Amino acid sequence: MNKRILTHIIIVIALLGLVMTALAAEFFFSKESIMIGLQHALGILEITIAPADQFFIAQVIRRVTWDWHFYIGMFFLLGVILSFIQFVRNKSKRDLANTIIVAILITVSLILIYSGIIMYSRLYVDVSKEFFITLKAFHMWTYIILLILVLSHGVKKISSRRKNEK
Ligand code: HEM
Repeated sequence: MNKRILTHIIIVIALLGLVMTALAAEFFFSKESIMIGLQHALGILEITIAPADQFFIAQVIRRVTWDWHFYIGMFFLLGVILSFIQFVRNKSKRDLANTIIVAILITVSLILIYSGIIMYSRLYVDVSKEFFITLKAFHMWTYIILLILVLSHGVKKISSRRKNEK
């Protein structure tokens, strides 16, 4: 298989996985949804647990979704490194317009990955609350920008391929 296609497949699968795990953490596995299920189960078992402990259990259960989000983020990093290597090696594609687009895509992706890695590392090292909030804001903005860029790139490729076929 062509190396460029393989890299594109890695990036598309990783982006889909990142969006799906983020959606899962926000909706199906939100702390609120987990606590509803937990309270239901505790009610059936006639067990009473303090709300703060229920919240802690919900946080721990929800963590699994973020673990997967992080692992897929590392797969995305692999795709970004491979596309950078391919871009540097492929001299025919290095005109000014293409270089600017690739530079923007790689910068945005690296900020996204960097913020993700530092947010994840707060489980093991000390990350201040203020820094975490800043990283979260960077994370949100860069993923919105990246998804818009990737979608417009996909639409452009498909429409130019259709034009060539006509
Ligand atoms: C298009 C790609 C991505 C999307 C759509 C995305 C989406 C999100 C969203 C919505 C959040 C929740 C923020 C909040 O709680 O308000 C989040 C948090 C997070 N993301 Fe991403 N992300 C992406 C890429 C990445 C990458 C590449 C990494 C890892 C290198 C990563 C790691 C994390 C981590 C560790 C958190 C924090 C989880 C926590 O609260 O403990 N994300 N992401």
